[in-house]
Amino acid sequence: MTARILDGNALSARLRESLRQRAAELSARGCKPGLAVILVGENPASQVYVRNKIKACEAVGLHSEKYAFPADVPPSEVLARIAALNADPAIHGILVQLPLPQQFDESAVLAAVAAEKDVDGFHAENVGLLAQGRPRFVSCTPLGVMKMLESEGVELAGREAVVVGRSNIVGKPMALLLVAASATVTVCHSRTRDLAAHVRRADVLVAAVGRPRMISGDMVKPGAVVIDVGINRLREGPDAGKLCGDVDFASVKEFASLITPVPGGVGPMTITMLLANTIDGAARAVAHATH
Ligand code: GUN
Repeated sequence: MTARILDGNALSARLRESLRQRAAELSARGCKPGLAVILVGENPASQVYVRNKIKACEAVGLHSEKYAFPADVPPSEVLARIAALNADPAIHGILVQLPLPQQFDESAVLAAVAAEKDVDGFHAENVGLLAQGRPRFVSCTPLGVMKMLESEGVELAGREAVVVGRSNIVGKPMALLLVAASATVTVCHSRTRDLAAHVRRADVLVAAVGRPRMISGDMVKPGAVVIDVGINRLREGPDAGKLCGDVDFASVKEFASLITPVPGGVGPMTITMLLANTIDGAARAVAHATH
């Protein structure tokens, strides 16, 4: 079997078209959805991500603001900006690009963002709501994975789902979403014994560890749906300098029924979900104002 490839760029383009319409409707009602992005320091990957987020806002008709601070900024200055954005009615989403420089207490910064504007879904209140099965803002990457599965009509109820990785940004919320969809969920991580044995049981596999090509074809159940969240830059070998996922695409595609590529798989969906979350935030602000 050779897997069908799940094209995240094509799905994103379709979804962004309907997001553009929703943004236009809200704008016509006097509530143009607005996103503020905070970037601290000069991490080159973060600079690229932030640039792409701002560009995507413009393409879909969202208002966006970018606040860039030098790496040695006192945390109080960033917190003051967050407080101003929390109070700004033109802003419906606030995103603090991670990682933050060392002098920052990351969880304190994330807690300072108003939960009603936390489009990243990182605030404890939003994580708690997701855990209780009544989600508000959900972390963009796992939300994008769910949309991909939904777009392909992948059955989840009663099936074995294995998540490799337990990060707050991807692995944990991913597991909660799969549980909410009635899958039987296993979360594997760096201390898991016999990873291959767990992975081999997966009807749906989500790899989110940040280790290039660690999932190989011999670990995958024939017919499995394989979602690759990893974005790694190869340092050596014939493909040095290229991007690759956590999944060894060449060998896994021979066993899977459906697989996401890197790049062009989950990556574009993450930004699309950020746009969707910001529009949802604006829609809730309108509903709140009119009730
Ligand atoms: N850094 C890496 N991924 C993310 C993300 O999804 N959101 C933010 N804010 N920072 C990140």
